[in-house]
Amino acid sequence: MEILFATNNAHKLMEVQAVLGPGFKLLTPRDCGVTEDIPEEQETLEGNASQKARYLHGRTGMDCFADDTGLEVEALGGAPGVHSARYATDGHDFTANNRLLLENLAGQTNRRARFRTVISLILKGEEHLFEGIVEGRIIDSEQGHEGFGYDPLFIPDGYDRTFAQMTTGEKNEVSHRARAVRKLAAYLHAIEK
Ligand code: IMP
Repeated sequence: MEILFATNNAHKLMEVQAVLGPGFKLLTPRDCGVTEDIPEEQETLEGNASQKARYLHGRTGMDCFADDTGLEVEALGGAPGVHSARYATDGHDFTANNRLLLENLAGQTNRRARFRTVISLILKGEEHLFEGIVEGRIIDSEQGHEGFGYDPLFIPDGYDRTFAQMTTGEKNEVSHRARAVRKLAAYLHAIEK
């Protein structure tokens, strides 16, 4: 099955393709002639996932899905949350975001955090939402070079390594996005039958 995924992030694409397996061929917006930035202007993960998927469906008429993810840190009242990509700057500057997160948690003993992903699927014009969550904690300094974003600072519960110290396969065993994508895949498999 071919399905359009609203991302041009190569890491995300790889993670999601690994969870979906060879039965699904993921297309990117660029593959379908969508080269402009896809709008995400909402104040919730659900709102942004939905806006991205609906936009892409409007532009292409194809079945598609979009995800939106936030890192929700307990001691920061759930920040950066929906603002995770642009926490420190207007761009997607992972280094600056991680530095700001550590600054804002300096001296803080409560390091609890979770990643939450929401996926919006538009299938035959109808929308379906899926959620994935992984609980964990933020450490004091970056560890590891795999993955992207806040991965070097996040250790999921039950592990002693950050996501950035894991292979894609290991991260996918527990990650927020993989959990949401497995729900999406189960839904797509069920309706294919
Ligand atoms: P997006 O909505 O999926 O693009 O995610 C927003 C921001 O959250 C990204 O720019 C990253 O900083 C962060 N993020 C999303 N997914 C992950 C992940 O799997 N690991 C670490 N950071 C992530």
